[in-house]
Amino acid sequence: MTFTSARKLEHIDIVRKGGVEPQETTLLEYVRIVHRSLPEANLEDIDLSVKLCGRELGAPLIITGMTGGHPDVEPINAAIAEVAEKFGIAMGVGSQRAAIEDSSMIHTFSVVRERAPHAFIVANLGGAQLAKGYGVKEALKAVEMIRADAIAIHLNIGQELFQDEGDTKFSGVLEKVAELVEEMPVPVIVKEVGTGLSAEDISALRSVGVKCFDVAGLGGTNWIKIEALRSKAKHGAPLRDPASIADLWGNPTAIAIVEARNAAPDAYIIGSGGLRDGHDVAKAIALGADVGGFAAPALRALSAGREGLERYVSQILYQLKAAMLMSGSKRPQDLWLAGITIWGRLKDELESRGINIGSYLNSRAMT
Ligand code: FNR
Repeated sequence: MTFTSARKLEHIDIVRKGGVEPQETTLLEYVRIVHRSLPEANLEDIDLSVKLCGRELGAPLIITGMTGGHPDVEPINAAIAEVAEKFGIAMGVGSQRAAIEDSSMIHTFSVVRERAPHAFIVANLGGAQLAKGYGVKEALKAVEMIRADAIAIHLNIGQELFQDEGDTKFSGVLEKVAELVEEMPVPVIVKEVGTGLSAEDISALRSVGVKCFDVAGLGGTNWIKIEALRSKAKHGAPLRDPASIADLWGNPTAIAIVEARNAAPDAYIIGSGGLRDGHDVAKAIALGADVGGFAAPALRALSAGREGLERYVSQILYQLKAAMLMSGSKRPQDLWLAGITIWGRLKDELESRGINIGSYLNSRAMT
């Protein structure tokens, strides 16, 4: 078994134990969707279907990439895939590097397509691997391995910098992403892992043709924190101590969604990082995302088996439908027209980034 493969299990264990969220929040608590008592619609009129990267989903939700690459995690991928298939939602797998290094790990990923023949499935490789030499060949392997509908490239600089054995070379990634956009037969999604994409990075990626983004902002699972915990468990104290960076560094999810939509009005945007219920998903969409995403809660819901995850997803979808009806929205994108208020730190920080809330909300409604 490779080092990469063993690390996968350590990560899952740490996330299951909890305490991996930063002190900083998503800032979604500074968003309120205006309540409407007279929506002139019925619950059964709510249609959750939506497009992601050109493909129709049954509901605006994705369980983002987490795992694969160790025999023990195959049941996790299998269960998530079955739930994705059942609800018509999208699913990502974790980094496929382990299976590219060791072909005996392939089935821990390909099980996903067996269990979800129709779902929107996203392959996954790291930007850090692209910087070190991976390219179109490995990306094609990853896509073919699971007959993926898209490939996500994750940018996890914070995690690498505070991982004991993490990479420290990140130049050349943009050029590699540009190559993938040109050569791959499926859309390329660029995602963060919980530190949040910024307007600057979205603009750079958009300029090389990327049309799908997963902002994965701050406020949920925090990989700087996870690596510090992992290092502490091994050495008594983290080898690369992140200090306050573990709790405070990154672009909160609410900010990342607005910056992404503002910088790329025509892109598909997954709002994720710390979303925990259907109300959060409604707020993420109201702010400008096309779909909401979550990762760690799926792992935790799976402690009650596949049924646990099914229950969790069906509650999220019910909460989302309720929020839509109570805001007069029949389709997810009607949430872009719903009244919302934004105040406090979220408003101040967006303004300090040059985004005027009033003009942003008007432009979002017209997109
Ligand atoms: C992840 N995430 C992740 N992302 C990625 O692109 N490739 C990967 O291999 C992994 N691995 C992984 C493992 C585990 C156990 C978790 C919980 C997460 C990141 C994930 O897709 C997501 O962006 C963040 O976790 C933020 O969302 P949540 O967890 O706050 O909902």
